[in-house]
Amino acid sequence: MDRDWAAVDDYIVEKLFGADQPQAAIEANAAAGLPAIDVSPAQGKLLYLLAKSCAATRILEVGTLGGYSTIWLARALPAGGRLVTLEIDPRHAEVARRNLAEAGVADRVEVRVGPALDSLAALAKERSGAFDVVFIDADKEHNADYVDAAIDLARPGALIVVDNVVRNGGVIDSRSTDSKILGTRRLFDMLADEPRLEATAIQTVGAKQWDGFIIAVVRP
Ligand code: SAH
Ligand code: DHB
Ligand code: MG
Repeated sequence: MDRDWAAVDDYIVEKLFGADQPQAAIEANAAAGLPAIDVSPAQGKLLYLLAKSCAATRILEVGTLGGYSTIWLARALPAGGRLVTLEIDPRHAEVARRNLAEAGVADRVEVRVGPALDSLAALAKERSGAFDVVFIDADKEHNADYVDAAIDLARPGALIVVDNVVRNGGVIDSRSTDSKILGTRRLFDMLADEPRLEATAIQTVGAKQWDGFIIAVVRP
């Protein structure tokens, strides 16, 4: 079954975007020993299309890794657009900076190194908010805190996307002791009672097996 999901992803990528994808970053990440937990190509292009369709000029990302999703999102920006991406691991940030330069988007992207909660607090202090799109894809334990911070940094009507919210179905295991599942369930509990957002979650299969995104819009 998993094999079919990946094969269909290959078909989608081959038909719909062929060579037009930041594949060099994936290879550089592997060479640098980074874990292969980037979004899939089809998911990366979805992020790009979402950012494009809301004409985003300011994008915030939590969880950079080697910058694969960052490159997709940055490609959606018009001239003068900005993307800030937050990463705790300086080694990941260094690989990401190289990949972003290689992909020709370094001029639009700022990689901030440190725990995302601290960087989000700093961004709030700088009042450099009004992000149009926020993509959250770091440690799942803090997902509810990241969404809470994102709401304050986002403009009314902004799009917030959270990766990995299904986890092979683990999200509905109310007795789970897995900290990532507990963090994801805490996010769903928060969203169930969060008047500032309208949200759904979409399950996905593909190269990354069975997982899903939360997609939410900040109420005006
Ligand atoms: N968005 C990337 C994948 C991110 S993987 C892509 O799709 O290409 C998750 C990343 O979050 C890892 O690089 C990890 O180091 C980072 N991370 C984990 N905990 C963090 C924290 N507290 N603050 C910021 N980044 C964190
Ligand atoms: C993991 C993290 C991710 O962001 C992802 O997309 C897949 C897996 C992980 O930590 O296992
Ligand atoms: Mg992810």
